[in-house]
Amino acid sequence: MKRRNFIKNSCGLCAAGMVSAVVLLESCDKNSRTPEGPTVNFTLDLSSSANAALNSAGGSLASNGVVIVNTGSDFAAIAQRCTHEGCSVAYSASGNELRCPCHSGKFDLNGNVTAGPPPAPLKTYTVTQNGTVLTIEG
Ligand code: FES
Repeated sequence: MKRRNFIKNSCGLCAAGMVSAVVLLESCDKNSRTPEGPTVNFTLDLSSSANAALNSAGGSLASNGVVIVNTGSDFAAIAQRCTHEGCSVAYSASGNELRCPCHSGKFDLNGNVTAGPPPAPLKTYTVTQNGTVLTIEG
């Protein structure tokens, strides 16, 4: 390999490595920030037709600024307001994630940012079930 080509290739690899490192650091930094979301304490009755979506795996609904998801084995509750510019995220069963319609931000069910510009994770909540009543708090 000629010296000129060696230097060219080395610079290209170096630049690619630096871009990867920056993306990785940004991603870690986002999820090390304090999760954002309202403080709540409310109940949902699963026997009510208004909450029927939660009776099947993959079902979800939004209430009191929180998205509640039936994961199939449990319930997850995640803040609804995107940490980027405040749009409402919605659950996507196909990706098992929360998606923001405004700038394609994505979050996992633990509230962590997995894609897009959101600068911080979403707050998650404790869900307890007593009979047909779910209590969401945090
Ligand atoms: S407001 Fe959610 S990604 Fe921009």
